[in-house]
Amino acid sequence: MNAQGKSVSGLRHFLDLGDVTPDQFWGLLRLARRMKDELTTQGRNAPLLAGKALAMIFQKPSLRTRVSFEMGMQHLGGHALYLSPDEVGLGKRETAPDVARVLSGYVDGIMARVFAHRLVEELAEWGSVPVINGLSDLSHPCQALADMLTLWETYGQLQGLTLAYVGDGANNVAFSLLQAAGKVGMAVQIVAPTGYQPDPAQVMSTDADVTVTDDLDGVIGADVLYTDVWISMGQEDERAARLATFPAYQVNEQLLAHTRNRDIKVMHCLPAHRGEEITDAVADSSQSIVFAQAHNRLHAQKAVLAHLLGGAALA
Ligand code: CP
Ligand code: NVA
Repeated sequence: MNAQGKSVSGLRHFLDLGDVTPDQFWGLLRLARRMKDELTTQGRNAPLLAGKALAMIFQKPSLRTRVSFEMGMQHLGGHALYLSPDEVGLGKRETAPDVARVLSGYVDGIMARVFAHRLVEELAEWGSVPVINGLSDLSHPCQALADMLTLWETYGQLQGLTLAYVGDGANNVAFSLLQAAGKVGMAVQIVAPTGYQPDPAQVMSTDADVTVTDDLDGVIGADVLYTDVWISMGQEDERAARLATFPAYQVNEQLLAHTRNRDIKVMHCLPAHRGEEITDAVADSSQSIVFAQAHNRLHAQKAVLAHLLGGAALA
């Protein structure tokens, strides 16, 4: 049941926020807060996933996603297996349908970080256990869930906030943020150079109140400034072109002042390329909430795990 007393249907997988209704998204946010409160007040979580195992397949490096999923499983009484890029060779040594069917006989859930989004879809189609997208080239739904949790804690509400996303507006983090914003009634101002703005069809699919501009005035009046790396994992051969294009979009003290909001907060999914998309002075300032965001990955993902693997209801 949600706040209005309507029942909220469950999710089978967590691949992309396009598959998640606003009620389901709010249900996950509330469950994440409950998980966090439980850990903070009681020092532990109920062992909802006792005896359960999560396979974690990585095609790309990770700090936050890997450690927060592993600790999340531990806090819930379960176990996580880290499978490195060299071990599995997802889509290379072995097809995703075969990997999915094999792992489904061993574990209770699969989390995968991949290049092609299609791979997480194939794991979900062919396996018989829930699949979680731990970042694909298309989207990063776990990050956006943690980000909305962080903003909800910071502002006490999400509806009516304005988030200005500055930098590569066409990447996975930007897309998931737009999708999340559409579910909670948050406005998004994408401030990105031509060629790095989101696909209009993707923007349309999000139901979010979005403006897209290449003009830095787009940050004026925002409550939150968000940025991410200019060169995402897998885009390394575009490095020279991207470094030539993005410097005007650096989140620095001058851009903070340009928001005309003294209380502006700054977010970054991390890892940061300090000195490129964000300066040390901003990342380490009192306005930065980047580490709260990173820490909330743990609590947000525990909600996803408890729901998908442990049957915790969304309410
Ligand atoms: N933000 C995030 O997903 O970090 P990692 O790449 O370290 O997992
Ligand atoms: N856009 C970045 C996010 C890293 C968490 C990337 O895909 O590399």
